[in-house]
Amino acid sequence: MAQTQQEIEHGPSDEGESQVVSTLPTREGWWKPFVLFQGCWLTPQAAESVKVAQTKFQPRPDDIILATYPKCGTTWLKALAFTIVHRSRYDVASDDHPLLTRHPQDLVPFIEMPYRYIHPLEELEVLPTPRILTTHLPLALQPSAISTLGCRVVYLCREPKDVLVSTWHYMNKVREDFHIDLEMTFEFFCEGFSIFGPIWEHCLGYWKQSMVEPDRILFLKYNDMMADPIKHVKMLAEFLQVPFSEEEESAGVVEEVVRLCSFNNLKSLPVNSSGAGDRIGDLPMENSAFFRSAKVGDWRDHLTEEMAKKLDSIIVDKLKNSGLVL
Ligand code: A3P
Repeated sequence: MAQTQQEIEHGPSDEGESQVVSTLPTREGWWKPFVLFQGCWLTPQAAESVKVAQTKFQPRPDDIILATYPKCGTTWLKALAFTIVHRSRYDVASDDHPLLTRHPQDLVPFIEMPYRYIHPLEELEVLPTPRILTTHLPLALQPSAISTLGCRVVYLCREPKDVLVSTWHYMNKVREDFHIDLEMTFEFFCEGFSIFGPIWEHCLGYWKQSMVEPDRILFLKYNDMMADPIKHVKMLAEFLQVPFSEEEESAGVVEEVVRLCSFNNLKSLPVNSSGAGDRIGDLPMENSAFFRSAKVGDWRDHLTEEMAKKLDSIIVDKLKNSGLVL
């Protein structure tokens, strides 16, 4: 569809919605209506932002892309990747490590957020190589050059019932005048109607490609990382081509990375427990909202057995024959 003169000259309207996005299927229920953009539920503003990222973002071959579905441990993965990759510059045990004074969300920027039609991509272009960048986009929506240039991707997924509960808590903090109950969040989630959803499409896209390109896409699970963080920190370092030396291992550097990036440590830091940041584009979010309980199996305190069974069976059905178990 042709762009209006207003869009050509100024980009999307104040609401952030061009003619292309305004014709997409729309559904209400979350804090604002979502549109179905290339098979993925987004706010209209996020869809505009993704369009900009898809056409204008210029990957570099040595970019490291951290990819997650929201509430799967993005903040943790950002902290870990930043600490591991930059450990020769920032001593993990030092008193002035950046993680002590900056929110992990701010140390590793998103490709598609804050809204890139308002906040230019140049912010990413000035970052030194190797860049660590994050995305919530499904693989199929990533700017295609990420794959053609062979950029390494770390994907982190999480048990869907825990993602659902985490999402529910988080969404109720998005706007003061918006409240969604757990039952409605559950119904939406089961229908695949959640931000960047459906979650099963998200996980499957990365899973299948990680089978094809295991050296380029590392597929991780939150619960496995929680169970054995040391093993996963070493695995991450290997994959990111900065393995720990024997000297580092015997000096306890791996354990120190785990400790620095642990939930309890990060949650307790003033930079993460107070204040707010405008990371999405139009919504200031409390810094503490990214650190809630980090409890594996937290769904047991929130979902009925019936709800758990229903979501489990949907996930099993959607993942069948893929080899992926969430
Ligand atoms: P809960 O809501 O279950 O507590 P994201 O970073 O993708 O938004 O995911 C947020 C979830 O990761 C929250 O889960 C949060 O508590 C948890 N989390 C944040 N930091 C973490 C860390 N360092 N280690 C483990 N989990 C962490």
